[in-house]
Amino acid sequence: MSYIVAPCTYSVTYKKTNTDKNKQPCYRLGDLDVSVHGILEGHMSIKEHPPQSSDSQESLALHVPVLLETTLQLLDPIKGESYLDLTAGYGGHARAFMERTENYTDAALVDRDDYAIERLKPLSDLGVRLLHTDFVSAAKQLIQEGKRYNIVLVDLGVSSPQLDQSERGFSFTNSGPLDMRMDRRQGVSAETLVNTASEGELTRIIHQYGEEPIGFAKNVAKAIVAARPLRTTEELATLIKTTYHGKWKKTHVATRTFQALRIAVNDELRLVEDLLPLLPDLLEPGGRVGIISFHSLEDRLVKRFFKEQFELGLEAELLPLTKKPMSGATYDVHNPRARSSQLRAAVKK
Ligand SMILES: C[S@@+](CC[C@H](N)C(=O)[O-])C[C@H]1O[C@@H](n2cnc3c(N)ncnc32)[C@H](O)[C@@H]1O
Repeated sequence: MSYIVAPCTYSVTYKKTNTDKNKQPCYRLGDLDVSVHGILEGHMSIKEHPPQSSDSQESLALHVPVLLETTLQLLDPIKGESYLDLTAGYGGHARAFMERTENYTDAALVDRDDYAIERLKPLSDLGVRLLHTDFVSAAKQLIQEGKRYNIVLVDLGVSSPQLDQSERGFSFTNSGPLDMRMDRRQGVSAETLVNTASEGELTRIIHQYGEEPIGFAKNVAKAIVAARPLRTTEELATLIKTTYHGKWKKTHVATRTFQALRIAVNDELRLVEDLLPLLPDLLEPGGRVGIISFHSLEDRLVKRFFKEQFELGLEAELLPLTKKPMSGATYDVHNPRARSSQLRAAVKK
């Protein structure tokens, strides 16, 4: 297998499977679009890959991990390495990574969702540490304890099970309560937000977090205020549909408003912003971090953080593993939920 690499001006060693650590050439996996094609050389192309398999039929039905093969190839877990999953969900990525590292006792899985933690419990019997909290609190706690990892994965957003369980209120395809809390211990649900926020605040949320045009955001906010109280996802989705008078859309017209409310309820962007600067301190030298985002608001934050890091030159703690994001539309075509995903990755010097 050949790698296309750029000569490196700083001392970075990035471990590859089956290579002698001490004999590694010093190289930078800089031009990642290029290097990833290099990584895939000699294999089937991602487009020809069969649908991803998972380790149990049950978890396959629950969640097909997004960009699984690509994250494995890019982050390249090897036997004995430690693994931190800051958004473990139902453990699809985690199980696949730990199958490679065979190191359960140095692994930690984080999720703010008690349903997810419950499903991860069998892994704690193998020695895996589970943290039921948001990833910023978890990262701070682990840093304080002096923990460092060879691999850190952040797979942002909601999981398939969260979307599929109507009682969680994330989706308008099945009617359920307007909840949308990833962590059910938190006070403010989508119902609270929708029924108490001012028209101006709702407009801001729908425009900013849903990236809807301001005119439509204002119309939806006005309709919500007039129709209060709203209790179910179906009521809200129907209301948004009646507010829309534009051209036919491929996606449901409520999609972006639901995304906006979910981001606001879970304070998602602030948490991502707070997490990013903590990542270098969670990594061992040579440790790799991968971040999968699902919409441009998240991806913009990740892109900016990595760019700022990479531009620090000698001061940089992280170096790029991906120059351009690797998109699920290209690298995970068989997984419909991967369509809007973008993976960026870096390695610690
Ligand atoms: C896309 S899913 C991850 C799926 C997982 N990679 C798998 O293969 O099963 C995202 C998960 O991250 C969790 N999550 C999202 N934001 C979080 C945060 N700020 N702190 C902790 N967990 C978070 C969600 O509850 C959800 O379970």
